[in-house]
Amino acid sequence: MTSPLPSESSQYTWAGRFSEPMSDLVKRYTASVEFDKRMWPQDIRASLAHARMLARQGIIPAQDLADIERGMAQIVTEIETGQFAWSLDLEDVHLNIEKRLTSLVGDAGKRLHTGRSRNDQVATDIRLYLRDAIDGILDLLGQFQNNLLDLAEREAATPMPGFTHLQVAQPITFGHHLLAWFEMTHRDAERFADVRRRTNRLPLGAAALAGTTYPIDREFVAAELGFDGVCENSLDAVSDRDFAIEFCAASALLMMHFSRMSEELVLWMNPRFGFVSIADRFCTGSSIMPQKKNPDVPELARGKTGRVYGHLTALLTLMKGQPLAYNKDNQEDKEPLFDAVDTVTDTLRIYADMICGISARADNMRDALRQGFATATDLADYLTRKGLPFRDAHEAVGLAVRRAEELGVDLPQLPLAELQTFSPLVGDDIFSVLTVEGSLASRKHIGGTAPEQVRAAIARARSRR
Ligand code: ARG
Repeated sequence: MTSPLPSESSQYTWAGRFSEPMSDLVKRYTASVEFDKRMWPQDIRASLAHARMLARQGIIPAQDLADIERGMAQIVTEIETGQFAWSLDLEDVHLNIEKRLTSLVGDAGKRLHTGRSRNDQVATDIRLYLRDAIDGILDLLGQFQNNLLDLAEREAATPMPGFTHLQVAQPITFGHHLLAWFEMTHRDAERFADVRRRTNRLPLGAAALAGTTYPIDREFVAAELGFDGVCENSLDAVSDRDFAIEFCAASALLMMHFSRMSEELVLWMNPRFGFVSIADRFCTGSSIMPQKKNPDVPELARGKTGRVYGHLTALLTLMKGQPLAYNKDNQEDKEPLFDAVDTVTDTLRIYADMICGISARADNMRDALRQGFATATDLADYLTRKGLPFRDAHEAVGLAVRRAEELGVDLPQLPLAELQTFSPLVGDDIFSVLTVEGSLASRKHIGGTAPEQVRAAIARARSRR
C-alpha cells in the first residue's frame, strides 16, 4: 500500500521539508554518484545483509525481504549489462539504487532504509570496498614477490657492484640486490594486512549518529558481511576515516619503494650502466629519435608516487577540522582513496609482469666491478686478519688503489711483489681474497651476499610469504 505524502512530488527522498527545488549548480556540486557508483557491489551486498537482519528481527515482513532480494538481483543485472540509468538527480550510489529498488518492488524498497542512515551506509560501503581492494593488492604483491624471487634465484651468484653514494662500493650479487626489494615489499604486505584488520569492522547500526530505536542485531550483520566485529561507538562509526588514511599511508610507502626500484631500473637501463634490459613490451620509442628505447613504465611509477603522497595529505587535511559526527566533508574521501587504490593496483599489476621481462647483463655488471676497485675492503680486511690495525690497513690499501689507478689496472692485476710494497703481510693467498668470487663467498653470514646465503635467504623468503 502506498500512501501519497508531500515528499512524493519530489525525486529527493529527503525533500519533505523543502519548499523550493535545488539549483542545478548545487546539485552538481553536492552529487557524488559520478565517483561513488563504483561501490555499487558493496552497497547492494550491505543492503542485503541489512534487510536479512531486519526480517530476522521481525522489523520487516519476510515478504519484503523476498521482494528486496528479487529487486536487487534485477538491479545487479541492469548494472552489469549497462542498462542501469545512473542519475545525478539522485545524488549518490545509495539513493540511485534505493530509488530503482522502490520502482521495482514498491513499499518493500522503501522499508529497506529502516534503522539505517546513509551515514552508516556509506561508511560500511567504503570499508567493504577497501577490504576487497586490499585483498587484491595483497594478491598482486604476492605475485610480484614470487616473480621477483624467481629472478633472484636465477641471479643468486651473478656479481654486480653494490653502491654507496652511487659510487662502486663492494661486490654483491644481483640476487642479493633483488632480495632487498623483497624486504621492502614484505613490509608493505605486512602494513596492508594490518590496515585490513582495522578496516574490517562494521559501522551499520550507528544509523545517523546515535544508533537506532529498532531492535537490530549488529553482530548478525557483521558476520553476514565477513567483518571481524562492529565499530563500538556510533558517533565514531559514522565519522571515522582513519582506515582510509592508513591505507593511503601504506600506499605512499609502497609507491616510495616502487619509485626507488624504478629509479634503479632507469639507471641500469642506461647504456653507461647497461646492467639490465627490459623486455620491449614495457618500453616505448621516441617519435623523433629512431634509436631510442625508453623505460616509460618505471618512469611513470616514479612519477605517480607523487599523486599518492598527495592523497594522503588530502585525507589528513580533510579530517583535521571535523567535529563529530558525520559531515558532508566526508564525501570528499572517495576520489583520493579510489585513485590511491587504482594507482597502487595498476603499478603492482604492471610490475608483477615486468619483473619477468627483466634480464641481467652480467658482463656489464662485471666490467663495472673491475673499474671500481670493489675488493679494496677485502684487501684491508685481509691485512687486519694478519695483525695490522684496521686503520693502518685502510691507509695501505688506499696507496695500493692509487698505484693501480696509475697503472690502469684493478687490484687483483697488481703483481704480488707490487702488492707487497704496501705491506709485507701480503702473501700469495691474497689473490683468492681480491677476486670478486672470493669477496662474495667470504660474506657468508645471515643477511650477507655470499651466493649460498642468498639462496638460503630466497628459501626463507618463499616460506615467509
Ligand atoms: N554521498 C554521501 C557521502 O559520500 C553519503 C552520505 C550522505 N549523508 C548525508 N547525511 N548527506 O558521504
